[in-house]
Parts: sequence; C-alpha cells; structure tokens
Amino acid sequence: MTQKPIVAATRRLVKPAEDRVAARFQFRPGNDEATYTPALVAKTAEGAAALLCTPTEPLNAEAIAMLPASLKVLSTVSVGFEHIDLAAAKARGIRVTNTPGVLDDATADIALLLILGATRCASDGERLLRAGKWIGIRPTQLLGMQITGKRLGIIGMGRIGSAVATRAKAFGMSVCYHNRKRVDPAMEAGATYVPRLEDLLAQSDVVSLHAPLTPETKGLINAQRIAQMKDGACLINTGRGPLIDDDAVITALKARKLSSIGLDVYTGEPKIDPRYYTLDNAMLVPHLGSATYETRLAMAMLAVDNMEAVLEGRAPPFPVA
Ligand code: DGY
Repeated sequence: MTQKPIVAATRRLVKPAEDRVAARFQFRPGNDEATYTPALVAKTAEGAAALLCTPTEPLNAEAIAMLPASLKVLSTVSVGFEHIDLAAAKARGIRVTNTPGVLDDATADIALLLILGATRCASDGERLLRAGKWIGIRPTQLLGMQITGKRLGIIGMGRIGSAVATRAKAFGMSVCYHNRKRVDPAMEAGATYVPRLEDLLAQSDVVSLHAPLTPETKGLINAQRIAQMKDGACLINTGRGPLIDDDAVITALKARKLSSIGLDVYTGEPKIDPRYYTLDNAMLVPHLGSATYETRLAMAMLAVDNMEAVLEGRAPPFPVA
C-alpha cells in the first residue's frame, strides 16, 4: 500500500481544516508557541510534500535553501506573501500559493474599528477606566475627531481598500484613493481617484494604508510624507508594519502633527517599537485583520485547496509563483 503524502503545518489551523487534511494525508499539525528559524522551518517540513505556513515564518532564501527535496508547495495561509522569497522557491521548483479574496471584509472591519477607535480616543478612555482614574464625564474630556463629513484617503485600492471605502461612506465620510493607476469604477465604491500621493495626503483627515509591502512601498509614510499631511490627521495601518517609518510617525504623534494612529501591524511583530506603548494617541491591536472564525476557516480551506491541487498535479486556484 502506498503511503499517503506528508503535509506539515507551521501553526495550528481551525479544526475543520486540520480534519480535512488529516483525512487525506499524513498530517503533522503546527505549533503556535514556536519561534521559527530557518532550521526549524526545515525540520518542520522534513519529508513533507506540502507545508502550510503563515507570515510569521522566515521563508527567505536561506530558509528555502534548507527545505527538504520532498517539498512541492509552500501554501501560505495569508494573502500577504512578502515573507517568502519567490525567486528562491522557483529556483528549487517549489510552488507558492496564497489566499486572497476571503479576508477583505474582516480586514476592512478592523480598519474601521481603528478609524473609529483612534479618532474617538477609545484606547485612552479604556486605559483611564481600567486604571480606576475616570472621574466622570466632563465637557472637555477625551475629545476626538468626528468622522462625519471628514475625508478618508485610502492608499492602495485593492479589494480591502474598496471594502473600507464602502464602510467609510456609510459613516458619512467622503473617500478618495491613490493607486499607481485608477481602478475599475466598480471597485471604487464611490471614492475619487487622486493621481498624486501628495495631493491625497494634503486633503485627507484620515489616511488608511492598504498597499502591499514591496521594496517601493517600504517606509512609504516617512517624515517627508507626514509633512504633506493635514495637521491633526489620523493614520491607520492594517497593511504591513514596514509601510511606515516608526521614527517619523512617533515624532509626529508626540508633536500632535498626527492627532492619532490606529495600528494592526508592526515592523518586527510580535516585538513592536516600545515607544508606541507610551503614546496616549495610539490605538494598538495585535494583527487582528483576518481574525474571525469565518475568515480563518475560509483562508485555511483555500490554503488546503491550493496545496491539494499542486499535489494532484493540477493548477492551484491561487498561485503566486
Ligand atoms: C494576510 O493574510 O496577509 C494577513 O495579514 C493575515 O496574516
């Protein structure tokens, strides 16, 4: 009897997805406590035909060089794939797949949570309560920015940006966006295209980042870009941490050039720049963008669809390399 192929995971997946894999393959579930090094990724993938992975694992050239010859596919349970060196994977003949399209609503919801929470001092208010320091409602206490009638500038108008635009409109915001080029009107969700980034920054009361992390977008929001923003603007990042230059952003938050920030993603996460903890105008959540049961189930199932297709010699639904 032929042995079933081994499928390894780096992290635990929601149960129906793990059960589905275990029903067809020799499944090695992942470990949520592990801090992955290239050597540990290689050990996890030992003898496996497929590795279900996530953005928390280093899959750079060094790690890919160490992967076993048995490995045919790296199926990341994420839309982002900047943690994988695609050229190195291609050179080793390893397919790479991702899970786009199923996390747009969940991520857009977190962007709105941060827009509302950061502009309305929600974190600061909660800290006050938890510290037992709330003395009662006062006419000048914890005054935020009302978003009704304000302008939201979206940088990166893909599916998530579009879902954010739809939601922001329902809150009475006017919405504009910047992209390298104008998107299909159906994707615009009533938002206005602004060809120059500096113009979008100058017009927007709230700026929300939805661009992918690439060499071109790394450090996109730096001191020069912040200087182009409205005084007292709010910045939201649910994309990837390195889209912003932490030094420049923290300086601007301290000086109140930026009135507030809402962050879901961080450079070097889970270790984040500790200066953020000291800022009363920062609302911080731990990479919750896609963290609903429904969305994580859909992502895991798509990752399984992808890897099954590769192992069966079919074209995977979402190849990235
Ligand atoms: C993604 O899918 O890229 C999200 O950031 C969750 O990891």
